[in-house]
Amino acid sequence: MSETQSRRSDYDRTSADRNRDETLAGRGRPTVSVIIPTFNEADNIEVLLDQLRIRLDADRYGDDYEIIVVDDDSPDETWRLAGTIAEQDGRVSVVRRASDRGLASAVLTGLSVASGSVLVVMDADLQHDPAVVPRLVAPVLDGGSDICVASRTSGGGSFGRFARSRKLISFTGNSVAQLLLGTQCTDPMSGFFAVSRTYYETVAPIINPRGFKILLEFLARGKRPQVAEVGYRFGERLGGETKLNRSVVLNYLAALITLSAGRILPATFVIYLAVGLVGLGVRAVVEQVGLMILDPSSAAMAVVLAVESGLIVNYLLHNRITFEPFRHRGVHTLRGLVSFHVVSLHGLLVHAGVMAMLAPSGPEPSADLVATTFSGPFILAGALATIGNYHINAGTTWQT
Ligand code: GDD
Ligand code: MN
Repeated sequence: MSETQSRRSDYDRTSADRNRDETLAGRGRPTVSVIIPTFNEADNIEVLLDQLRIRLDADRYGDDYEIIVVDDDSPDETWRLAGTIAEQDGRVSVVRRASDRGLASAVLTGLSVASGSVLVVMDADLQHDPAVVPRLVAPVLDGGSDICVASRTSGGGSFGRFARSRKLISFTGNSVAQLLLGTQCTDPMSGFFAVSRTYYETVAPIINPRGFKILLEFLARGKRPQVAEVGYRFGERLGGETKLNRSVVLNYLAALITLSAGRILPATFVIYLAVGLVGLGVRAVVEQVGLMILDPSSAAMAVVLAVESGLIVNYLLHNRITFEPFRHRGVHTLRGLVSFHVVSLHGLLVHAGVMAMLAPSGPEPSADLVATTFSGPFILAGALATIGNYHINAGTTWQT
């Protein structure tokens, strides 16, 4: 790779393009693409590329692979070392990115330019043993798996001489991921995996390029993939140093929460809840104002007015926002409003019923309002009533 090319403002795909074009012209699409994200891996990249090529050459994939190094303009010039190898070996190419940064986005860049039927992602520091690559490819190529994960916690796998603090991070990360995402994968934080082109292409448009863990995105987005695993021993870093730090861990947790929220709570339900809160606000305001201006003897009137205002505002907002695609117009609006009232009444009954079951004696007469309102049974009853109402409204009132 020449100096001129490497000073380009956006990432330099020149040598990658050239190599791939030759590859494609010569042999068509390769079976296997190996994507290696690098940042300051000058101590490791040559050894890794040598070991990996020897390994793949010895396997049945033989000539039928490409290796794509995605480097974020490393100050130690990893890209130059990889570029020299790429010049001698048409199966190796280098993507040098000048403006984009980050592990996950580097992996995505690599995946987007790869052309193999099976796409493998691995680290450059030899913590990921090249000898495992063929075992990762096989289940995806022949076994009908969408993804094959190199796992440190399944049969034969281990963390090697991983610092205890890192083991703990990994353990926590795995548990949280399994809990929130319900994935079958035993090592969802793994950076070493293979994915089929078909599955990659279905998920690619909805992947979030930020964050550290691209595997999580594959596991949690779209349809549930068929996951295979291969146990492996997480090796020691050959040279250089790790880039995993605290902010990466926080990012990981944030990604988990976003992914699971998106899975557990459909977007419509989140909007439904927000609209519901607005309705509660309207109701509280109308009630206060009513009690202030009305005669004390008509307090009940104020409450009815307040509840009714809340319901109407809720209905109108749901009609315009939450269930907009199924919006009622004209005379249907009236029918919708009636239906919405019936469903709300049902919600009230559910709430009262659950409360009666959970707290049969009712609140202590002296108990203050706030304590009663935010009691566990009250919140649980509210949640059940809300979820029920949501489903009935979606199915009946708006017939989604
Ligand atoms: N292009 C690019 N850009 N590559 C990066 C970047 C970046 O910003 N950050 C890291 N890399 C590359 C490294 O050069 C290395 O090849 C690979 O990504 C992994 O980075 P490490 O810094 O070695 O990560 P680690 O060993 O601490 O973390 C390993 O274990 C984690 C789970 O415990 C990795 O395998 C992670 O993927 C894994 O989640
Ligand atoms: Mn590493």
